[in-house]
Amino acid sequence: MSGTPSRRPRVAVSRSGLPGEGVERLTDRCDVTAWPGTAPPTPAELAGLVRGCEGLLVLGSDRVDAALLDAAGPGLRVVALASMGYDGVDVAAAAARGVVVTHTPEVLADTTADVAMALILMARRRLPAATDALRRGAWGAFRMDAFLGLDVHGATLGLIGYGQIARAVARRAAGFGMRVQHHHPRRKEDDELSRWVPFGQLLRTSDVVSVHTPLTEETKGMIGTAELALMKPTATLVNTGRGGVVDEEALLVALRRGQLHSAGLDVMTGEPRTDPSDPLFHEPHLVVLPHVGSATEATRAAMVDLAARNVTAVLHGHPAPTPIPG
Ligand code: DGY
Repeated sequence: MSGTPSRRPRVAVSRSGLPGEGVERLTDRCDVTAWPGTAPPTPAELAGLVRGCEGLLVLGSDRVDAALLDAAGPGLRVVALASMGYDGVDVAAAAARGVVVTHTPEVLADTTADVAMALILMARRRLPAATDALRRGAWGAFRMDAFLGLDVHGATLGLIGYGQIARAVARRAAGFGMRVQHHHPRRKEDDELSRWVPFGQLLRTSDVVSVHTPLTEETKGMIGTAELALMKPTATLVNTGRGGVVDEEALLVALRRGQLHSAGLDVMTGEPRTDPSDPLFHEPHLVVLPHVGSATEATRAAMVDLAARNVTAVLHGHPAPTPIPG
């Protein structure tokens, strides 16, 4: 099908008040119903919202499964995620129903790479512990051995996964005087930023390991006890990809045993984690952030704008600008 549909297509948006002008522009060409409120709808509420719609714009934290697709009905043609990761979508169920799924690569790569670098610096230099000491009035007389961390310059950075965000981290790491290597299971190529190495070699020889793989059946738990044991006791592990890729229990054990110098996580399993006594939040050599990789005003607006353009394109008979990789 091509051209403009005879009536305005109906589109559900899973939140109100999304940043930028993407939803407003979508409203120019579609009948948009946004979930009222900034709190997420329950699955039943989202199912009610999407019933009879041709398009659905959701956030990365929303779950799009077969039941939701069926609740929408046979007219649903596009699910547009305002996120790069699409592990919350049952892609096979969407494909079986002829529903195009899109995501938002590129627009968030640099912003997320900034947070990966921030975690590397914070964890390796133990900066949060230094800030905490100030708050406790514990900034004593100058000592040569106080607040010591490990250098970032001269360290070898190992990137697990080598997509847009990993390459953006590699560019930054070069500016910090790091050597960069990466592992990707299929694209076994060096480039001007980084050299490809086998997975085990990356774990054994990197001073900083930074995780940038999507969460799939293959990558779930790929950094567990055995992998952490291969890493140097002076190494730092950083994850800005998806929580399930790192086994958090195994990470806590490794940190407590001193098998690892430090770690930084922007992503966790079971987000959002709201228990203030969560062990992940209190481990001294672990820096934790509440999934803020893409959280700048400009980037969040760009994500919504791209998601909205994906919806409009598909519903007006054009190819989606950024479908999920087939
Ligand atoms: C992404 O886009 O995948 C970020 O993690 C935000 O959901």
